[in-house]
Amino acid sequence: MRRKLAAGNWKMNGKLADLAVLERIGATLPDPGCDMLVCLPATLIQPAAGLCESTALRIGAQDCHTAREGAHTGDIAAAQLADAGASAVILGHSERRADHNETSATVRAKAEAAQAAGLSLIICVGETLTERDAGTTLDVIGKQLNASVPDSADAASLVIAYEPVWAIGSGRVATATQIGEVHEFLRARLIARFGAQDADGIRLLYGGSVKPDNAAEIFAIKDVDGALVGGASLTADDFCPIVTALAAS
Ligand code: 13P
Repeated sequence: MRRKLAAGNWKMNGKLADLAVLERIGATLPDPGCDMLVCLPATLIQPAAGLCESTALRIGAQDCHTAREGAHTGDIAAAQLADAGASAVILGHSERRADHNETSATVRAKAEAAQAAGLSLIICVGETLTERDAGTTLDVIGKQLNASVPDSADAASLVIAYEPVWAIGSGRVATATQIGEVHEFLRARLIARFGAQDADGIRLLYGGSVKPDNAAEIFAIKDVDGALVGGASLTADDFCPIVTALAAS
């Protein structure tokens, strides 16, 4: 049985004063019944990790560099994130692929660096609306998955997040059929690559406009092991019911 995971992604939001949200999530859900993680801007990781140490809420990051250390002004190494208290890192989010021209080869190199630092990986894949309309969704996602996930990845520390680009921040959720089709495809691809036993332990998250009022429906879909939540992870009022719906699914 895969343990379910509710992961938040604060993106470029949040200042020190907003850490009260994390305290509230931790206090509201002392024993949530699933894994609970919020991936924060780098500036908040260390204070958040300290604040949440005795709660069920774990702290993650949103990107790392491919190199272990060195002359890369403005970048952050995976070991620095781990040192600050992060236990996981999101890699290959579509906003990074688009804003920073990140290729799947770069994502893979970052994933290897993160693994070496002991971080769990949340590797994102997802098609644009143009790609979906052209009927190439599975082809695009298959290529991203193949090229972004390192051979050395292991089930215990690998999570794949399916985030259709057109569903992110748009209020437009993929249908149950669309999500189910992609998740079934991802599971089959992972089985083909890593073998049934290992692939069975890899968690598959859906991301894209997940809210308290649609969470239960999404979590009922086969092979959905949790969610990667953007906007609705910024308040305890929105995030806590999503976590609760996941634990109950
Ligand atoms: P929203 O939940 O705001 O659509 O964002 C999804 C996302 O990109 C999470 O990584």
